[in-house]
Amino acid sequence: MTTKDKIKSIIEKAVKKTLKGKGERMARARTSEASGSATAERSELINLEYPADVSHGDYAANIAMKLGKIMQKNPREIAEQIVKNISKNILIEKVEIAGPGFINFFISEKVLKNEISKVIKEKTKYGRSNTGKNKKIIVEYSAPNIAKPLGVHHLLSTVIGQTLNNILSYIGYKTISINHIGDWGTQFGKLIYAYKKWGKKDVLDKDPINEMLKLYVKFHDEAEKDPKLEDFARKEFKDFEEGDKENRKLWKWFVDESLKEINKTYKKLSGIKFDFTLGESFYEDKMADILAEGKKKKIFVEGDEGSYIAKFSDENISPLVIQKKDGATLYSTRDMATLKYRISRWHPEKIVYVVDMAQNMYFKQLFDIAKRFSWYNDEAVHVSFGRMRMENMQMSTRKGNIILLDQVIEEAVKRARKIIEEKSPNLKNKDKVAEIVGIGSVKYNILSQNRTTDIVFDWDKMLSLEGNSAPYMQYTYARAHSILRKAKTAKVSGKQVENKTEVAEKTSQLLRMIPKFEEHLIHSAKEYRPNLLCQYLYELAQKFNSFYNSVPVLTAKEPKDRLFRLKVAQSVSQILQNGLALLGVNVVEEM
Ligand code: ARG
Repeated sequence: MTTKDKIKSIIEKAVKKTLKGKGERMARARTSEASGSATAERSELINLEYPADVSHGDYAANIAMKLGKIMQKNPREIAEQIVKNISKNILIEKVEIAGPGFINFFISEKVLKNEISKVIKEKTKYGRSNTGKNKKIIVEYSAPNIAKPLGVHHLLSTVIGQTLNNILSYIGYKTISINHIGDWGTQFGKLIYAYKKWGKKDVLDKDPINEMLKLYVKFHDEAEKDPKLEDFARKEFKDFEEGDKENRKLWKWFVDESLKEINKTYKKLSGIKFDFTLGESFYEDKMADILAEGKKKKIFVEGDEGSYIAKFSDENISPLVIQKKDGATLYSTRDMATLKYRISRWHPEKIVYVVDMAQNMYFKQLFDIAKRFSWYNDEAVHVSFGRMRMENMQMSTRKGNIILLDQVIEEAVKRARKIIEEKSPNLKNKDKVAEIVGIGSVKYNILSQNRTTDIVFDWDKMLSLEGNSAPYMQYTYARAHSILRKAKTAKVSGKQVENKTEVAEKTSQLLRMIPKFEEHLIHSAKEYRPNLLCQYLYELAQKFNSFYNSVPVLTAKEPKDRLFRLKVAQSVSQILQNGLALLGVNVVEEM
């Protein structure tokens, strides 16, 4: 149980006690009325927030205001009664009432100190919990359409999805990560056509993915001049679907080569892994059943010229084609089969689709259709994200109008290397550090932004040593490490004069952050928002830096203070390491 949950249950008890006796009935009735259900628990009304201002404690409850409204009583009076009914607990240092009736809780020093020991003991396991109770969650991410190299925009789903998968598994879910590769569809018809017309085996063998891209781009250029090419491509794809041997062979070749390349890119990004890579092609033989069942149940009805569509009662949702007039299947047909397959194979509690918001409508359609099948019980969630917006990019789009992901990785490492060269000319392992900083920056930049708005890609910001960036976090980690390193050799007792109030204040502010790591992991996972974890880590790093700037650690006068402060530094660095690892951002001990 997190500290927050413990406090929540303490206040719950106090509220119960307060409401017992006079007025209880009314309160109970109105509470349920307010939440719209007769069985509503009062605990639903209790909601703890982190006060923005540290002087308001660690957690604030607004229950007295809520009850005041329901019971038409002065909230401050209710707050006073509740506070009186809070039983003594070692967790709580003090409770205060503020403003119109907020109840503010301050965690006790003792508990905060115990937490430090816990971090030091649990090391890379600190922050883990059993929140997920080992329930299964499928997390689908990356899912590129292949036969083209990965573009920079593929970073979004890949990095957000991998992080969500990491956090969910860390907090005790049994995650199943899947890469739903787009290895089916008319793009293959185009490629097959283009290869037959312009391609050469030996050229493609040498540099498969770039050659495929060239063919693909050439096809589009030519098709602009002569639209008949689109028909030829469709024909190639139809032949392929119907089992044409040569086209099957070509398809397989394109897919294999493409996957090899894509896996290389994942490897460069480091920490991107999938339990299963199941492309759309995997569902080729699993669609007939669904089509039959859907037609029988009138979920799929006839559309134009013998096609099949699904309609929706909500008029804001447009009909979705499930089968083309020539009998061919579509992206949506394969997704229906995929959803059914996932449910029947894994029986997951949830299936999370990390896909960009261009597909918001599509997922509404998909999940709405699924609801009408007996095998679906509302398991699916679409975690959508905005578009990538390039700022100060100054990168040529080398080929076919896409900025290649490989190119971006290369550039990030190059830029990181340049900064390192300037700032730490004597550093060892510059190449390794540049790789860790460069790639970490690209990932952290995405993860630290609110996923539902445009995600800005800005070199200067992402590589900055200040602000909410990977280099700042990595630098703070390295700083903490250098203190720990020096502690081994430096003199034990210093004589730096210290400002007692400032020391107490900075230390307390930093310590209070520690038990909140676990809480932020859970919150981040519940909302599917990695940026909440980033925000927490950023605040932790800031508080640590401000602690270190005014609290003598190595030069502390009292040996016991020195020892304690070193432990603080050690636990902060541990939390930074654990948190960044979940984001796929590696750390270095010197930079
Ligand atoms: N391959 C698709 C695309 O690039 C994304 C797949 C999303 N996942 C899904 N189950 N539909 O647009």
